[in-house]
Amino acid sequence: MTANELRRKYIEFFKARGHAEISGKSLIPENDPTVLFTTAGMHPLVPYLLGEPHPAGDRLVNVQKCIRTGDIDDVGDESHLTFFEMLGNWSLGDYFKDGAIDMSWEFLTSPEWLGVDPDRISITVFAGDEDVPRDDESAGAWRRVGIPEERIYYLGREDNWWGPAGQTGPCGPDSEMFIDTGIPGTPESRPGVSDGKFLEIWNDVFMQYNKTADGDYVPLKRKCVDTGMGVERTIAILQGKRSVYDTEVFQPIISKIGELTGHSYGTDEDRDRSVRIIADHVRTATFIMGDENPTTPSNVAQGYVLRRLIRRAMRHGRKLGLEGAFLEQPAEVVLKVYAGPYPLLEKNRELVLGELRKEEDRFLKTLQNGEREFEKMLPNLMKGNKREIPGRLAFKLYDTYGFPLEITEELAREHGLTVDRAGFETAFEKHREKSKLDTKQTFKGGLADRSEHTTALHTATHLMHQALRDVLGDHVTQKGSNITPERLRFDFSHPEKMSPDQIKQVEEIVNGKIAADLPVTIKTASLQEARDEGALAFFGDKYDEVVKVYSIGDYSKEVCGGPHVEHTGQLGTFRIVKEQSSSQGVRRIKAVLE
Ligand code: ALA
Repeated sequence: MTANELRRKYIEFFKARGHAEISGKSLIPENDPTVLFTTAGMHPLVPYLLGEPHPAGDRLVNVQKCIRTGDIDDVGDESHLTFFEMLGNWSLGDYFKDGAIDMSWEFLTSPEWLGVDPDRISITVFAGDEDVPRDDESAGAWRRVGIPEERIYYLGREDNWWGPAGQTGPCGPDSEMFIDTGIPGTPESRPGVSDGKFLEIWNDVFMQYNKTADGDYVPLKRKCVDTGMGVERTIAILQGKRSVYDTEVFQPIISKIGELTGHSYGTDEDRDRSVRIIADHVRTATFIMGDENPTTPSNVAQGYVLRRLIRRAMRHGRKLGLEGAFLEQPAEVVLKVYAGPYPLLEKNRELVLGELRKEEDRFLKTLQNGEREFEKMLPNLMKGNKREIPGRLAFKLYDTYGFPLEITEELAREHGLTVDRAGFETAFEKHREKSKLDTKQTFKGGLADRSEHTTALHTATHLMHQALRDVLGDHVTQKGSNITPERLRFDFSHPEKMSPDQIKQVEEIVNGKIAADLPVTIKTASLQEARDEGALAFFGDKYDEVVKVYSIGDYSKEVCGGPHVEHTGQLGTFRIVKEQSSSQGVRRIKAVLE
């Protein structure tokens, strides 16, 4: 069964059972600052899972593009992907555990649908903890359809609890379906242990709570079901393939990389891994740029993730002997593979290929210089018995050659070395202090490079956020933020249109803080400490308990990934160009620095 057939069957199955088909949404979440990308099919549906009626009804089904970059460094094995398609069916207060499990079982095992042998299926359910009891109801439903007790595994929160990737929102216990891949396992093999023996393909989540910003679990008035089936993994299983990369959605991309590099896939584990990384990253980058809301490479937010994906793919290209720009060709294959189900990609063709090329050109310069420098350092580093790259050298690569720390770390790993991260950060701080004294450069729009301008807009966003709270009140919280080299866009909670006078006040405050040339400082803290100090924290990241806190003088303090300018005098003149409604209770501002 191909990906095209699987999508079609899934939609058909659930439509025949009363579900309305809804369209998948952009990879960039609208008005949701808790994550950079849509990480699951439920993401665009959060308001409905929390109680709002959905215009299409109480039973929904769709295919959603998703991106998860939390484990970007693991990508390259047989099943992890940064981009994937998720099939999902939802019940908004309609059926619950029994109904969901019955339908999952039928779709998986009935010869009319996927026809998976029931003996290959194992299940996990939530084991319970001090807050929530064991999910015996789900276990009972699985036994009823025919899963023997010995293939039902009770696991804890890490495995069987689902909430959105951000801090708050609808959540509850889940039940995952695993397929025995048939490879020999070990006594330790079981669902939830990623040794390749059991592959999770579907997850039924039973949304019973809303987790609030205070960390409380408030029971939902209307219990919901949210399920997610991974397209790539499921077709791999159905086709009897060992890996998602062996399926028809990846094979043409992999062949193209083979053609370019001369490496024949499957002949060398290390080189194969590089091929998979390139294939995964180029596919993800193509979808990010070919989205309803296209993102281009930059130093902030989604643009920065995109930059990292492209640059990491290029580094692996170099490992396979590709010295120049090459990503356009596999990207063209991605456009072709997905032209049917995602016609928007083809519409964005020029943007995708053009931006890829530009970013490759920029990075080629950086890489050449950085790698040359690394090679020069290597003999001395290999002689030392610490087998560690001192922080100041990693910083030199970063500062002088624009060599990202993660790439230095990757190169280091390849030679059995580590990088002194703490030392890198110390060197980074020292440098900031020094350059604050030395330079008093003024930002001039147009002259400076585009990425500098996005960084400046990012700092201006923090100033404006605080100014909005000062002028309108503390009910103002960030609902979304998007920065291009031309402008910032900021969505925030506020019930009514701002008056011209309020807009002027915000502009005056921000320009006052720019004139005061406030220093921008950074420190790391736990998310809790940051909150306790009153830092605004709307971009919660569950993977990253330690967060960066940026302060602008005494005026603004926010948890944020950065980067920012060093002092506000670099910003130029701030002007709001538009204030409009974004959605119910949310306003949108577009502003520029001139
Ligand atoms: N939202 C659930 C998941 O992503 C279905 O696994």
